[in-house]
Amino acid sequence: MRNKRVKNLTLAFEMLITFLILVSLLISLISCNGLREVSSYITHTIKEKSKDIAGEEEDEIKNNMKGEEIMLPQPELKSNISLEEALNSRRSVRSFSSKELSLDQISQILWAAQGITQESTGYRTSPSAGALYPLEIFLLKSDGVFHYIPDGHKIIKLSSDDLRPNLIQGALFQGFVAEAPVNIIITAVYERTTVKYGERGIRYVHLEAGHSCQNILLQAVALGLGAVPVGAFDDSYIQDLLDLPRDHIPLYIIPIGYPEE
Ligand SMILES: Cc1cc2nc3c(=O)[nH]c(=O)nc-3n(C[C@H](O)[C@H](O)[C@H](O)COP(=O)(O)O)c2cc1C
Repeated sequence: MRNKRVKNLTLAFEMLITFLILVSLLISLISCNGLREVSSYITHTIKEKSKDIAGEEEDEIKNNMKGEEIMLPQPELKSNISLEEALNSRRSVRSFSSKELSLDQISQILWAAQGITQESTGYRTSPSAGALYPLEIFLLKSDGVFHYIPDGHKIIKLSSDDLRPNLIQGALFQGFVAEAPVNIIITAVYERTTVKYGERGIRYVHLEAGHSCQNILLQAVALGLGAVPVGAFDDSYIQDLLDLPRDHIPLYIIPIGYPEE
C-alpha cells in the first residue's frame, strides 16, 4: 500500500516536471517569436530611417541646385533640313565664332537632349532603360551655369560665373571648349538605373549618354551650328568646377556654336 503511494507520488512528480518543461519550451518559443518581431521592427525602422536620410539628401541636392528659373521657349517640331541631310552633314567642329546662341536655339538643343515628348508618361526625346532617366544636363555660357529641368522645359541658373575658360584645364587643354559660346555637360546619376538593373545598369547609362549626345549633335546641325562630343576630361575637376552633387558623374562635354568660317 505504502509502495503504491510512493509510486503514485513519483508519477505525479514526473508529470509535473514534464509539464514544467513543456511550459518553459512554449514560453521560449513565444519569446523567440517576440524577439523576431522586435528585430524585424528594428530592421524596418532602420530601413525607413535610411529612406528618410536618402530623401533628406535628395532635398539637400535639390536645394543646392536652386536658383533663378528661366522658362524656355517651346521647341520647334519642324525644320528645313531632313534627318538624312543632318546625318549626312554632321562633322565634329572644333573651331567656333564668338556669336552667342539665342534662347530659342538653346531651348531646341536641350529639348533634343532630354525634352519631354509625351506629357502623360513623361517620356523623352532620348530613350531610357526602364524610363528611369539617369541623365542630368548642364549648360555653361558666358552669363553662367544652368541646369536643365525637362519637367516644365526650363533652366535653373546655378551661378553667374563664366566657367568656360576654366573648362580648358578640365578638358585636358582642348582650348576650343572656351571658344564655343555654349558647352553642354551631360552627367549621370548611375543609382537611378543600377537600383533596378544592377551592374548592367552602368552599361545602360553609358548607352543613354550616347543617345542624348547624338540627338544634340544632329539638332545642332539642323540649327546650322557645329558641335563636337568631348570624352577626354578630368571627371573630378569638372565636378568641382560645376559644384556638382557627388553622385552626378560627367560623361560628355559638348561645345556648340557657329562654325568659324
Ligand atoms: C566617346 C567620344 C569621345 C570623344 N572625345 C573627343 C575629345 O575628347 N576631343 C575631340 O576633339 N574629339 C572627341 N571625339 C570626337 C571624335 O574625335 C570624332 O567623332 C571622330 O574623329 C570622327 O569625326 P566626326 O565626328 O567628324 O565624324 C569623341 C568622340 C566620341 C564618340
